[in-house]
Amino acid sequence: MMGINKNATQMMAEIVSNKRVGAYNHIVFAVGDIASHAKPGNFVAIAVGGPNSAMVLRRAFAIYRTFDKGSNGGLLEIVVAPHGAGSTWLTNQLPGFKVDLIAPLGTAFGIPTEPVRALLVGGGYGSAPLFGLSEVLKNRGCRVDMVLGASTAMKIYAPLDGKRSVNSLTTVTEDGTTGITGKVTDVLADIIETNQIDIIYSCGPMGMLEAINVIAERLGVVHQCAIEEAMACGIGVCMTCVLPIRGEDGVVRMLRSCIDGPVVDGDSVIWGAKRVIPEGTWGAH
Ligand SMILES: Cc1cc2nc3c(=O)[nH]c(=O)nc-3n(C[C@H](O)[C@H](O)[C@H](O)COP(=O)(O)OP(=O)(O)OC[C@H]3O[C@@H](n4cnc5c(N)ncnc54)[C@H](O)[C@@H]3O)c2cc1C
Ligand code: FES
Repeated sequence: MMGINKNATQMMAEIVSNKRVGAYNHIVFAVGDIASHAKPGNFVAIAVGGPNSAMVLRRAFAIYRTFDKGSNGGLLEIVVAPHGAGSTWLTNQLPGFKVDLIAPLGTAFGIPTEPVRALLVGGGYGSAPLFGLSEVLKNRGCRVDMVLGASTAMKIYAPLDGKRSVNSLTTVTEDGTTGITGKVTDVLADIIETNQIDIIYSCGPMGMLEAINVIAERLGVVHQCAIEEAMACGIGVCMTCVLPIRGEDGVVRMLRSCIDGPVVDGDSVIWGAKRVIPEGTWGAH
């Protein structure tokens, strides 16, 4: 079990820009030193609704990119899908407004020490943390292929960024409005075999991560995924986000995905537990 990210800081961060991009809002915050501590896979927890709001739970957002220099000091970017009350409130805030945020939180993607062949797979806004990751991997001399999937073209985030930062980009939509028609998992086996992929990094809905893990296990490829389990506090206090994970000692424990994740090894997750504590879990009777 891990503790909260040692670099996590709470601050009032000013919105520098907030722009609509397809189905999402791309929001940039001035965060000072936080930017230099964030790693691909970390997330930010944002208080929504203003000081008198009944929305007491922070909302988690994957960190899309950070810049540690600039006229505003460090910058942190996120991609928000306006969905329920909290995310819609956030997407309606204008530049100049300050929000209460905590970052960087959670674990980061593991970066190989030697050049490897990596496949990055993102579903919807789940592609957000993969662009920063691809830059780090490319700087390490890795080959990087990327698959971005969504239900429809408007929900594929930043395909142009994808094209710029990787060796090959494949887009997949369920309704066929762009790229290949189907799901990301339809194209994976082919890419893994053709490009002799060593490691898959994924981020997106849980069902997608589970399906990717099945393919990774079948083809013997290492799989790291950024889990998106419901979170309430984001800082390890409330136990809302627990998930059964098998440790290196073989014991299954209910771990908090906000501090022991969101990035975990795909083969350590007990997939399909559906919020039931699996038999034999440490501490369960
Ligand atoms: C690690 C992580 C990364 C994420 N990254 C992104 C991202 O990059 N972009 C993006 O758009 N979204 C992201 N999300 C989803 C985001 O945190 C919100 O869940 C989503 O925006 C919906 O929030 P809402 O306020 O619009 O909806 P609402 O329906 O108003 O609120 C849902 C929020 O309340 C919490 N909640 C509601 N009821 C309960 C309950 N009974 N117990 C505990 N918690 C409850 C949920 O966890 C959720 O955070 C991420 C989530 C996680 C966990
Ligand atoms: S969200 Fe509260 S412990 Fe993880």
